[in-house]
Amino acid sequence: MRAPVWDDSLKCGIAEIDAEHKQLIEAMNDLYIACYINPAPDDIRAFTDRLIEATRSHFAHEEAEMRRSRHPDLKGHQAEHRELLRDVTAIRDRCTERLDATSAQHLLDHLRNWLIVHIQTYDRTLASAPPAGGPAESGH
Ligand SMILES: [Fe+2]
Repeated sequence: MRAPVWDDSLKCGIAEIDAEHKQLIEAMNDLYIACYINPAPDDIRAFTDRLIEATRSHFAHEEAEMRRSRHPDLKGHQAEHRELLRDVTAIRDRCTERLDATSAQHLLDHLRNWLIVHIQTYDRTLASAPPAGGPAESGH
């Protein structure tokens, strides 16, 4: 597995969202280093928790932005976010005591592969949402 790297192919065109995606890539990089380059078992759990929390708060922010811009696919997009969070949380929670490097690598691979596809498909539509006009989505 290569190190997670930010590049222009991941830009979705909204500066704030791009900045958060970049931060997620950086958080993945920290976990990558702790798993593959400079093994640090004590850091793995902390970096994994931090990555999951950064992902959760980014999704909440992205969904708030979609609500604000009345994006037509808020519900479908939210469902994608929830599924990913459920998957990575399940991987983490299978290890009740110490999160071993293999599980963290699995979590990292899954999150990275998912995020790249998600950004390049779903998040690309964020900048091109139709102008506000209809009622705002509640998202519930
Ligand atoms: Fe998204």
